[in-house]
Amino acid sequence: ELSPIDKAKFVAARRSVDYIEDGMRVGLGTGSTAAWMVRCLGERMREEGLRITGVPTSSRTADLARKMGIKVVSLDEAKWLDVTIDGADEFDGDLNLIKGGGGALLQEKIVATASDRMVVITDSAKEVKTLGAFPLPLEVIPFGWQTTRALIEETLVNMDVLGREVSLRMNDDVPYMTDEGNYILDLHLRRIGNPRQLSLVVNQVPGIVENGLFIDIADVVVIGHGDGAVEVRD
Ligand code: A5P
Repeated sequence: ELSPIDKAKFVAARRSVDYIEDGMRVGLGTGSTAAWMVRCLGERMREEGLRITGVPTSSRTADLARKMGIKVVSLDEAKWLDVTIDGADEFDGDLNLIKGGGGALLQEKIVATASDRMVVITDSAKEVKTLGAFPLPLEVIPFGWQTTRALIEETLVNMDVLGREVSLRMNDDVPYMTDEGNYILDLHLRRIGNPRQLSLVVNQVPGIVENGLFIDIADVVVIGHGDGAVEVRD
């Protein structure tokens, strides 16, 4: 028996695979909700004999997709994707997102941007009026990361945000490392007044590879509720 939150994630994931048709090239997101989606897709492929090519956004998702019998290729082999389905940490009324709680934001953003359509799957608790309660992840090159952090802190002084604490994401007592061999800085901003501007400005700081704001990338948000109801926003 699933908890209400897992049920919400599951029903959103199950509904999202309706966007997938035979022969499609599909971006496969990362996280607990996306993992449900990969399982549902594997099941649909077995039942209906669909031929799907998947491009995973993390090594974790690649392992799961192969286990579910989905043909996995690199983004460069696929070249372009019909749809990407992925979770999110927060979404607002404009369907802008914070992603990267699971540390896969860089590959997730590259894959989503290379897709005709991005479908986000989420539980209703992740909807916010203004982004920023969830810490914003930045992927940072390890070389000189403390200098980069200091530059980010300086940059935040001029930004429309409420909090300005920056922390290095840890994995026990060592820095968390992304699939690309980089670190993650988490920005505790509480409220992001202008997400579009913030995204542009932080990406100008040398050493920052990418940030977890997805602006104008998501096309559809499929929202699951704990009672099994599903809502679609587009
Ligand atoms: C991974 O880097 C993230 O962007 C995930 O998509 C996000 O953290 C959502 O994860 P859950 O589905 O586990 O909540």
